[in-house]
Amino acid sequence: MPPSTGGHTPVSSERLCALAGPALARPDAVYVDATVGLGGHAALIAERFPGVRVIGIDRDPEAVAASRRRLGAAAEVVQAPFARIGEVLDGLGTAADAVLFDLGVSSAQLDRDERGFAYSRDTRLDMRMDPSGGPTAADILAGYSKAELAKLLSDFGQERFAGRIAAAIVAARADGPIERSGQLVELIRAAIPAPARRVGGHPAKRAFQALRVAVNGELEQLEAGLPAAIGRLKLGGRIIVMSYQSLEDAIAKRVLGAGATSTAPPGLPLEPEATKPFLRLLTRGAEHAPPAEVAANPRSQALRLRAAERIRETP
Ligand SMILES: C[S@@+](CC[C@H](N)C(=O)[O-])C[C@H]1O[C@@H](n2cnc3c(N)ncnc32)[C@H](O)[C@@H]1O
Repeated sequence: MPPSTGGHTPVSSERLCALAGPALARPDAVYVDATVGLGGHAALIAERFPGVRVIGIDRDPEAVAASRRRLGAAAEVVQAPFARIGEVLDGLGTAADAVLFDLGVSSAQLDRDERGFAYSRDTRLDMRMDPSGGPTAADILAGYSKAELAKLLSDFGQERFAGRIAAAIVAARADGPIERSGQLVELIRAAIPAPARRVGGHPAKRAFQALRVAVNGELEQLEAGLPAAIGRLKLGGRIIVMSYQSLEDAIAKRVLGAGATSTAPPGLPLEPEATKPFLRLLTRGAEHAPPAEVAANPRSQALRLRAAERIRETP
């Protein structure tokens, strides 16, 4: 029996099947889900491509437990940050025919108050995908200098009022620690000019994104994880990256684009093998979710999808 794909349709699942399909139709194919989450994409792949070896990775122990429950014997699920995808696959003694990165947080993480990702409810400011170690969002708010906070809010949240918010955090924490999302939301609301509170979505959205990116080292993870995944792709193997914010998409664009570009100096009569591109882009720019999908699943509104195929072995 294939695992149930459940009622919830994962983002751009048909596009994933179309992009990964040619690689997964090969004998002994291996699908690696670097962000297995609740196992939605992985369940669909197991159902559509019977016989494919499905490997799931997630750094969140709750996601690992949930996807193991859902996928059962159809998948091997490993708890690890995806920056370590190379070690995980080496440990399992395999390379990949297709790898998916479906970035960001899962609905389960957002919905569970004790995880502290939500700005729309008053929760403890944690935000760690792997709660077993490392600083929480509250620790960052307590420990960073005003300049560091402003840089974090500006770099990771593209927050226009980063300086004002950083100053408000430093002033507020003199009276006691900022440990609840409700405290932070109120403080941000008060720190930004009144007209700005009414435009651009929830006023705390960008600051919460910035804190989440910092707490989980999300950009460093991607900088390490994408090249490692590409390095473990078999010839003809495919990598698919689904990003939901511009900083992640910029990294995917740069890493996939570099692999698809010759590194030969201009004017060589014959291009040496070693400088030829090792990837072929499968998407033109970043693809967006089709309107019908956005209407059915608002999360897909922010989707930027890029994919590439491995066309050359590198030493
Ligand atoms: C959007 S959800 C994935 C949903 C999944 N595709 C599905 O169909 O259910 C993203 C998942 O990636 C995990 N994640 C994010 N960054 C990670 C990282 N650096 N290493 C491992 N897992 C990560 C999160 O814990 C979360 O469970």
